[in-house]
Amino acid sequence: MEFLLNITHNYLGIPIKTAAVKEQDLHILEIRSQEQKIMEFRIPVSEQKPYAYDYLAYVKAEDYKGRELCLSGSLPSAFFEQVIQTDEPEKSVDIRPEIHFTAGRGWINDPNGLVFHDGIWHLFFQYNPMNTEWENMSWGHAVSRDLLHWQQKDVSMYPDEHGTVYSGCGLVNERGLFGLPTDALLFFYTAAGGTSQWSKGKQFVQRMAYSLDGGETVAKYKDWELRLYPETEGVQKKELPRAAFENRDPKVFWHEDSGAYIMILFLDAHDFAILRSENLKDWEKTQHLVFEDAWECPDLMELKADDGTKHWVFWSADGFYFVGEFDGWRFTGPGSHKEAYGTKLPYAAQTYSGLTDRTVSVAWLRTRHEGRLYTGAMAVPRELALAKKGDGYRLRLSPVKELNQAREPFQTLHMTNGCVTYKEPGRPFWLRIDWKEGEPGNAFLTIGGAGWSIDRKHGTIRYYETPTGLTETYTAADGGPLNQFRVIVDRGIVEITANHDIIYLVYETTDYQMDGFLTYEGEEADIGVALLKN
Ligand code: FRU
Repeated sequence: MEFLLNITHNYLGIPIKTAAVKEQDLHILEIRSQEQKIMEFRIPVSEQKPYAYDYLAYVKAEDYKGRELCLSGSLPSAFFEQVIQTDEPEKSVDIRPEIHFTAGRGWINDPNGLVFHDGIWHLFFQYNPMNTEWENMSWGHAVSRDLLHWQQKDVSMYPDEHGTVYSGCGLVNERGLFGLPTDALLFFYTAAGGTSQWSKGKQFVQRMAYSLDGGETVAKYKDWELRLYPETEGVQKKELPRAAFENRDPKVFWHEDSGAYIMILFLDAHDFAILRSENLKDWEKTQHLVFEDAWECPDLMELKADDGTKHWVFWSADGFYFVGEFDGWRFTGPGSHKEAYGTKLPYAAQTYSGLTDRTVSVAWLRTRHEGRLYTGAMAVPRELALAKKGDGYRLRLSPVKELNQAREPFQTLHMTNGCVTYKEPGRPFWLRIDWKEGEPGNAFLTIGGAGWSIDRKHGTIRYYETPTGLTETYTAADGGPLNQFRVIVDRGIVEITANHDIIYLVYETTDYQMDGFLTYEGEEADIGVALLKN
């Protein structure tokens, strides 16, 4: 079926029916301009008549104004009839987390291209605007001035003939490379060849894109790619050398001490590469690393420790980290892996470039938001540092200092007979629980329908969610006692840190309205609540 559209407005609205997510219900939609393919998506197709869609996915069509676009695919005519044109995409107004970024509509995963530039925090992210499940990997974009309140912008990069657009990083072009100005933003990303019909038979390669207008628009750079295994073009995965297939997720940074750019790359399996370059174009592989427990989305960062020393931390998607040293060529001396996350929700975090005195990390939260038109969220950004502990170092993940500026003063909740009850304020809030000195005991905390039973002495936290019946148990790797709970509660997302932010746990609850009660029962503690401003 073909559908011709005379482009008169800035955006196309593509009708999306999210319930239709079974594999066989995804059909390919192609958009052509003068016989040339400009876009390809896999769209969920509903057999329902009339074609009732859940939302419109807006695709920028401004560049084609006054021309004709041809939409085609084996989609019902009812689908094409619902495609609209508009200059003002409708904003979603549903109740949702306020200081956790969620996409207006669609699926998000990894944070990408994190760069701080001209007072603006850029958050690009893996995005499927066309459904609430993973597919059509594109780069979405949001901006913030305080890391907590985000504004979603137009999609920055869509899939093309090289593949869908997988994860990558961003940095300011300080050395004026690639013939681009020094205030250009550069983005290194993976063109995931073979993951779409359009890129069939192609391989995963690293490519570059740039922005000349402070991130508003991103253009793909045509004349550069990094192909690590050129000899394997067109070869099946099983015939390839270990780890040569889906190399991806480049993270690039400038290494001052050795005077070069460093790229950390995931190769495949549990293999990673460190590469070096002085011009960002020619890369030399200086190390092949195998970390049996780690995979995807690597990062490498130097962090200050509380004993006055500095160390390098190699990071992978699960929040597994290795503390060692790095000389610009090789990462050495890592011990066994440590785990930054105590629950399964945080994943694929990346640190910001463009900062000199702090390391800020943003994780994707694998939240489902059942029954809503968006999937996934971004965690509250965390400032990373090391704490000396026994045999080595542990990572601290403290909420960014901006959170302190975004809250009202703490209000003390007084305990009577070992109990505290507080009516939830209907707004996101921050809770602190500080236990007194002495023998650690037990406590039970509830927030709306969610409850945590806390065994301070043994370092165990049991989570219960009444509406879903879900339970989850966490035991601190370093054992007890547990102390200093800091809890961020934001419409269905609860982030807990303990022990000076060395323990980090994130939960998804079904409580969005926040009109329930907060209760605390158990060992005497100093408890305070601070409302977050919107
Ligand atoms: C991690 C990941 C990355 C990849 C991206 C694709 O969640 O699998 O390795 O680049 O997601 O969306």
